[in-house]
Order: sequence, then structure tokens, then C-alpha cells
Amino acid sequence: MPASKTPRFIQTWQPDAAAERAAACAALAAPHASVAPKFFYDRLGSQLFEAITELDEYYPTRTEASIFAAHGSAIAEAVGSRMTLVDLGAGNCAKAVSLFPLLEPARYVAIDISVEFLREALKEVQREHPQLDVAGLGQDFSAELTLPADTMGDERPVFFYPGSSIGNFTREDALAFLRRVRAQATGGGLLIGVDLVKPKHVLEAAYDDTIGVTAAFNLNALRHLNRLIGSDFDPRQWRHVAFYDDTESRIEMHLEARDAVTVRWPGGQRVFAAGERIHTENSCKHAVEGFSALLEEAGFAAPRHWTDPQGWFGVFWARAD
Ligand code: TRP
Repeated sequence: MPASKTPRFIQTWQPDAAAERAAACAALAAPHASVAPKFFYDRLGSQLFEAITELDEYYPTRTEASIFAAHGSAIAEAVGSRMTLVDLGAGNCAKAVSLFPLLEPARYVAIDISVEFLREALKEVQREHPQLDVAGLGQDFSAELTLPADTMGDERPVFFYPGSSIGNFTREDALAFLRRVRAQATGGGLLIGVDLVKPKHVLEAAYDDTIGVTAAFNLNALRHLNRLIGSDFDPRQWRHVAFYDDTESRIEMHLEARDAVTVRWPGGQRVFAAGERIHTENSCKHAVEGFSALLEEAGFAAPRHWTDPQGWFGVFWARAD
């Protein structure tokens, strides 16, 4: 057996803890209080999100997987093989790795906010695929996308952004993000999962399940915030609220104060009235035509898509010529 290569790890982004704390306090004190979605994902939050993906009501993860299973060969034919596969928000790398048999990448570049999340997963990827060039990049790609030339190699860059994370951007930020990807993708393209507009009751159930896993996930952001800024949120005083806004085509997630409550943290405090809300995340749902147009507006060419039989989720491929 040929000797295995070794993954390379590069961290280009350094969190500024003091600036993060200051931003979190400012967001709480703002007229419309908010908690940034990144506070969902501490250790417990990541486990709760995995649990969400197994709920009957949360269709996106399994529907996306079913599209790759049903249309894998057509997708592979459109995308081609032997590319540099750039995984945006790779996490445990499982989704991309499940596509290796279809896409046969020559090189795999996994990007996540912290290279530490990637280390163990990428070592395993390299063990399983000894001939693949593997690199891990720690970068906040929602703010910047810079790919060191020596990690990218000479193959066509194909970007992979599954899970409809694009829905968590506003339309404006989604366009800016797609343009950043387009600028790096010349000669290759983008393979992206997008949650589609569908009946309201299906959407609302997906974000407010009957056994309360989603509520726990949303409330867990308060625990995370308590640790980060020393606030005294008691999650029992807050209620998970999720609703679909038809005019904006988006699910809005909030935490609502059950009664009047004062939240204190070193250097500040905030009085919340009963029923007042803290905004935590939006999840925009797209129409096929609208998302294809957005891809073209960002500079991609010839968008194509595959959906499930109900048309609930779309996997889009667009070239960067
Ligand atoms: N980004 C995921 C989504 O929009 C996150 C998510 C799922 C979520 N369920 C949630 C965020 C509930 C807040 C509350 O699908």
C-alpha cells in the first residue's frame, strides 16, 4: 500500500474574545435585542442540532440526502470529477465524504471557523483516502474567503455548501457571499443545498417540533451567552418562538420572555417586558427560479437543480466560467 499523505492545517482567522463579548453585550442592549446564531453551537448545541436533524419534522437534512441518493449520477455528470472540493462549514466532514464516491475529488479542502474542529475528522478522512490531498482551513468565511494557493492545487475548484446554510443570510448578504465564492471558483463551480418555499405548517413544524428539541437548541444559546459574558439568563423564563413570515419567505426564530425579567451582566443590564423577544436567527426559503436568478446575479453560469418529488429542497449546481 502506498504511503499515506498527511493533511495540512492552516488557521487564518483569530477570534478576538474581547470584541466578541462587547458585540454580544451590545446586541442584547439594542432596541431589538438579538443573540447571534453562532451562540447555538457550543458542544451541547452541536449535539442538539444533530438531534434536530433526526426529528420527523426536520425534513431538510434527510431530503437533501435523498436528492443526492436519487440524482447522484446526474449530479456527478454535471459537476465532473478530479476537482479540488472546497467544503464550506465542513464540521465533521461527513456530508462531503459521503459524496466522494460520486465526485471522486483529487483534493479536499475543508473550511470551518476553527481548524481544531477539523483536525480529528480530517485525519480520519486521510486514513480512509490515502491518495487524496487533504487540507483544513480555519476561517470565518461568512466575513472573508481567502484560499492559500498552495492548499488549492491545480485542479478545478468546486465549492460545496450543503444544508441550506445560505438561508441564514439575508438576501443581500447571500448575494455578497455568493460573489465571494464566485471570485474564487473560476474554472469550477458551486454545488449548494437550498431549502425551498413550501406550505407554512410544514415549515413551522420543522422549527418547532413536538418533543421540544428545537426549543432546547434555541434556549441553549442563553446558557452559552451566560458563560461568555457572565449574564444571568434563566432559560426557564424564556419560551422558544418560531414562525413563518410569508412576505419575507423566512422562518424567524426568537426567545420570548414569559414574564417581565431583568437580565444582568458585568457592565450592563436589560429589562425585558413580558412577551418581549430576543431574535436569534432567520432561515430564508427560496423559490427555484429566484435562487437560480441569485446565482446568475452573483456571476455563476447555467444554474441547474435537482429536487425531491415534493419539491421541498433543491440541490443546485452552477458553473463559474
Ligand atoms: N441553520 C439551521 C436552519 O435554518 C438551524 C436551525 C434549525 C435552527 N432549527 C433551528 C436555528 C431552530 C434556530 C432555531 O435550518
